[in-house]
Amino acid sequence: MRRAGDVFGRRGNRHLKQLWGLRGLLERLSVALIVLLIGSISLFTTFKTPPVETNGYLRVRCNGGLNQQRTATCNAVLTARIMSATLVLPELDANRFSWIYDVEHFIKLLRYDVHIVETLPEISKHGKSKKDAPVNRYKTVALEVMKEHGAIFLTPFSHRLEEEIDNAEYQRLRCRVNYHALQFKPQIMKLSQAIVSKLHSQGHFMSIHLRFEMDMLSFAVGLILRAMGFDNSTRIYLAAGEFFGGDRFMKPFRALFPHLSNHNTMGLSADELAEGTHGMLGSTVDYMVCLLSDIFLQPYDGPSNVMGHRLYYGFRIIIQPDRKALAPIFIKREKGQTTDFEESVRGVMYNIPFGGPHKRIPPESLYVNSWPECFCQMNPRNTANKCQPLNIVENLNSRLQSEEGMRSSNMTDG
Ligand SMILES: *[C@@H]1O[C@H](CO)[C@@H](O)[C@H](O)[C@H]1NC(C)=O
Ligand SMILES: *[C@@H]1O[C@H](CO)[C@@H](O)[C@H](O)[C@H]1NC(C)=O
Repeated sequence: MRRAGDVFGRRGNRHLKQLWGLRGLLERLSVALIVLLIGSISLFTTFKTPPVETNGYLRVRCNGGLNQQRTATCNAVLTARIMSATLVLPELDANRFSWIYDVEHFIKLLRYDVHIVETLPEISKHGKSKKDAPVNRYKTVALEVMKEHGAIFLTPFSHRLEEEIDNAEYQRLRCRVNYHALQFKPQIMKLSQAIVSKLHSQGHFMSIHLRFEMDMLSFAVGLILRAMGFDNSTRIYLAAGEFFGGDRFMKPFRALFPHLSNHNTMGLSADELAEGTHGMLGSTVDYMVCLLSDIFLQPYDGPSNVMGHRLYYGFRIIIQPDRKALAPIFIKREKGQTTDFEESVRGVMYNIPFGGPHKRIPPESLYVNSWPECFCQMNPRNTANKCQPLNIVENLNSRLQSEEGMRSSNMTDG
């Protein structure tokens, strides 16, 4: 296991060791309970390959930011699967799928699940669907529209499919899309990797994703980290959302943690940011750096794909302050009662799961915590959750080929 030494200062060292100790315990527990196979292999399942003749085309437009678009794309792939439809590459609100994601990889990785085409042939029909529509709706009403017109267009398509589906295969498909198929373009991956390597060359680092934050909040985050024992040598990468107020707001935080960087200070030029991926380079690189950092701190309560992603790739450390529990402590501090401030903060902070495995209980989102749904198991009670043999990809490939072969020979015969 990694050691805490270079990230953590002397202050609060005992608690930081607890943090690492807690993680160790959780990790040992999880390993003892279930042996995991993380990786794309584990996620290929006994799913039937998609039918050669589909019921029509599914076209969707996803609105919102990076997070929402990812979720919507997962839902779109699953919907296409449920409807036995051919998915047209999702359209994004302000940009294009191909500006951000590796299209070839996306189509290839999902070839055992759905047929995906880059553009819609010359037919189109607008269809409507309710928010959080149940799976059944796509098997009945929406399917009829599609069959009648050859295609159905769902827009906006963000929460158009219920999240809690009692079908392990369907839930795993969502993870397959989110954590394996949705890969940023090589250019983004290269730049992110360069930044992460540069940061890692000096030791561990923490990333913080700020959104809508104001000076008071960044300062509060600083105080929390200080109470936890992070000193002014801690290196921090700041990923700031689109609405972030800018450097002015960071002054009080920078006073506590001077080793602060972001994608600009790490060498992404303004030109690159503007051109590269049509304005999306900054947020996509931030996403990757947050994914790969040693510790990720998210100071707000909302859902976040990065959190889900970090959990999926080995329960990487996440700090998400419990704001409700911290509020009274900060109020006391503002009234001048500062004596037991740090101790109280630690009392709250060392009670969070730190990204360790914890069973998802709705309403916690599958996109934030896919444990245990998206992990196959070596000795499951339910055989549907069993990890597949390692040659599953070869098997699926030959199944696809033989089906296609049969079809083309039928066509020649006819
Ligand atoms: C960090 O804090 C120590 C005192 O705890 C101080 O001596 C040092 O100058 C600070 N370093 C920076 C870079 O601010
Ligand atoms: C090919 O034709 C055979 C018999 O004519 C049929 O059973 C089979 O389902 C067809 N395969 C495909 C892929 O259409």
